[in-house]
Amino acid sequence: MSSDRVIELLEKAYVDEMETVMNYQTNAIVLDGVRAEEIKDSLQQDIQEELTHAEQLGQRLKQLDARPPGSAEFTARQDSLQPPEDSTNVISVIRGVLDAEEDAIETYRELIDAAEDAGDPVTEDLAVTILADEEAHRTEFRGFEKEYQDE
Ligand SMILES: [Fe+2]
Ligand SMILES: [Fe+2]
Repeated sequence: MSSDRVIELLEKAYVDEMETVMNYQTNAIVLDGVRAEEIKDSLQQDIQEELTHAEQLGQRLKQLDARPPGSAEFTARQDSLQPPEDSTNVISVIRGVLDAEEDAIETYRELIDAAEDAGDPVTEDLAVTILADEEAHRTEFRGFEKEYQDE
């Protein structure tokens, strides 16, 4: 019913969501300044959504007789999303978020293809739903990026 590739991508997506939650949370705390408030609020909202994605992916893995990985199997990858030295450097966080969202979009596109190839419409449907959320996140932060670039 399901392929190794589907399991592998579900695990990757799960781990990526967890790393995203950690970095969004850290940056939402670290950023300073009146102008950072909107970004911080947006990150806080997205954290809840990313956490929901992780849970959905983990449940799907369980349904496929697999399981979500623990931290021992974790390798950090989000270099551009590390909290900036200067806590008012909002644009650095915005660009890091855009990298994370682009990366997620790529993973969910791959998962959609793999699930389709494997004849697994339930995983495919989940990946499509999450992909829509990630595209909405990207659109939101592209807007922020424009705002900060135009100064
Ligand atoms: Fe997500
Ligand atoms: Fe996202």
